[in-house]
Amino acid sequence: MMKNNETLILAVIVFFSLVTYFLVEPFAHKVLHKHVDSKDFVYDGTDDIAQVQNTITKLESDKTDQEKIQKDEEKETLRQKNILESIVSAKSKLEMKKTFFADLKRISSLKGNATKGKDLYVSCTGCHYDGAEAMGGVFPPTLKNAGLIYDKNYLIGIIKDPAIISNVDHKFDEMVLHPMDSVKYMVSTDEDIANVVAYILETAPKAESLTPKIAYENACGRCHALKYENWTQLGTKPIFKHKKDELAYDIKVLEYEDAIKVYMGKLPPDLSMYTRSRSQDFLRTFIENPQNHLAGTAMPRTGVTADTAEKVLEHLKDAGDTKRHEREEIAIYVMIYIVIFAIFAFLWKKQVWRDLH
Ligand code: HEC
Ligand code: HEC
Repeated sequence: MMKNNETLILAVIVFFSLVTYFLVEPFAHKVLHKHVDSKDFVYDGTDDIAQVQNTITKLESDKTDQEKIQKDEEKETLRQKNILESIVSAKSKLEMKKTFFADLKRISSLKGNATKGKDLYVSCTGCHYDGAEAMGGVFPPTLKNAGLIYDKNYLIGIIKDPAIISNVDHKFDEMVLHPMDSVKYMVSTDEDIANVVAYILETAPKAESLTPKIAYENACGRCHALKYENWTQLGTKPIFKHKKDELAYDIKVLEYEDAIKVYMGKLPPDLSMYTRSRSQDFLRTFIENPQNHLAGTAMPRTGVTADTAEKVLEHLKDAGDTKRHEREEIAIYVMIYIVIFAIFAFLWKKQVWRDLH
């Protein structure tokens, strides 16, 4: 009798554990985190255009709802007026983005001349150089590896209009300009853009030289600290002999963080532990287009290639899970040990029971 009860209890526990694990948890996960498909890091504007189109569809359904409520009144309410204005501005944004990405496609098909591009590249290094000053709240990142790190379409786009290609144009207008906005006037014709990009791609270093650490520092490091890797937005934090020097350094970091907070509206979080709190899939699709996960977010799309994104993820794993490589190395020995132990345990059991059977 006793034995039967125990089996029943075990069966109930196993049943509910399985239901929770395979049905409830995945369902809750799906509701809380919508799934975002990767576009394989192709920056052709499909996402951007769909995003504005969704906004328009939503506004139009709001408009119909509002009309139903206000059927008898002749006067337009303030709310209706706002919706109509938003529809007009969303529609003009849609046209603007379609034109932008059509331009991008055209420029992308041109064969740039790297020799001519070299002269124009000087206008980039006016802002982008080692030890460059922050502008508008952020350091211009080094472009030494740009031909390797960034996608070709994205490079064209960032010269044509940095705010649109990084999908943060909602943050800027005639009064508030993107810190790199003036590039539009320095390198403006299709040929010039194609030539500079050809130069950047042609002078790109070899792929092997891009370690996960460098990929992270170039693509994310100017905004996101990584305290477990001793990385601040100013670079790797040196080891100081004197407390006073360390405090002076910390103050410089805090001042930079204040400035970036003003620029972004929010301090970009320290990414040390994100590899544990978010799935790899989330991080990958977030880097590709942050707006797909957090609509209206201040984080720009970074325009990295698929390979660079993998390297960045690798570095985040190294930072947040320092024992990872060691664990993976030891795992095989643990498995071998368990197998040998199981064989001995089996032989021993046979030996003990031999006389009884
Ligand atoms: C007026 C200064 C200025 C000029 C000129 C300039 N940039 Fe920039 N650039 C910046 C700043 C500042 C940022 C950082 C913006 C940010 O993080 O929001 C930046 C960012 C970038 C990025 C990184 C984008 C990303 O999404 O991570 C690339 C690539 C880039 N610039 C390429 C160029 C190229 C190529 C040129 C020349 C054709 C150029 N820049 C000219 C200031 C400038
Ligand atoms: C120009 C500054 C800037 C750059 C460059 C940048 N980020 Fe961000 N990032 C932000 C800001 C600002 C936020 C906060 C966004 C919010 O909460 O709306 C953020 C948020 C995040 C988050 C948190 C998302 C969440 O779920 O809360 C992750 C993860 C992230 N960034 C990863 C990266 C990676 C990886 C890179 C490099 C490939 C990168 N970021 C480059 C500014 C930046």
